[in-house]
Amino acid sequence: MGIFTQDIKTMDGLFLHGLQDIYYAEHQITKALPKMIDKATNRELANGLKTHLEETNKQIERLDKKPSSTQCPAIDGIIKEADEVVGEVADKAVLDAAIIAGAQAVEHYEICRYGTLIAWAQQLGHEEVVRFLTTNLNEEKAANTKLNTVALRKGVNGKASTAA
Ligand SMILES: [Fe+2]
Ligand SMILES: [Fe+2]
Repeated sequence: MGIFTQDIKTMDGLFLHGLQDIYYAEHQITKALPKMIDKATNRELANGLKTHLEETNKQIERLDKKPSSTQCPAIDGIIKEADEVVGEVADKAVLDAAIIAGAQAVEHYEICRYGTLIAWAQQLGHEEVVRFLTTNLNEEKAANTKLNTVALRKGVNGKASTAA
């Protein structure tokens, strides 16, 4: 369903479309994360991604209250790009840096979408939805911060920059 088609007539309709969109996105992310985990060399990176895969499954359970999903070309594109870049990197240290970049693009997408959905849910008076969306948002923010730490303070970028 295109966002500018006539199907969406109300704020509630727009909100529901947004929920279906992030629901689809979370499902695609559970398919993309195992591939990143497989390819990651840095142990903290692999463990961090594993933890976030478990969190992502729980996020889907929270969203299950609003069933059905709509296709989300944005997350498809972000995941496809990450896949392509990761596939082109031969050096393992550089590969870790590429995986982090791809994973952070996913987290920022999620942070953006959850932020909007929370604002809309508040406006529409869906208090219970605000609560579980906020839980998901906080997990995405924490996952992004952890990726920053692995890249900057745990030496992934440093190692990658000295690869021949
Ligand atoms: Fe998520
Ligand atoms: Fe996430």
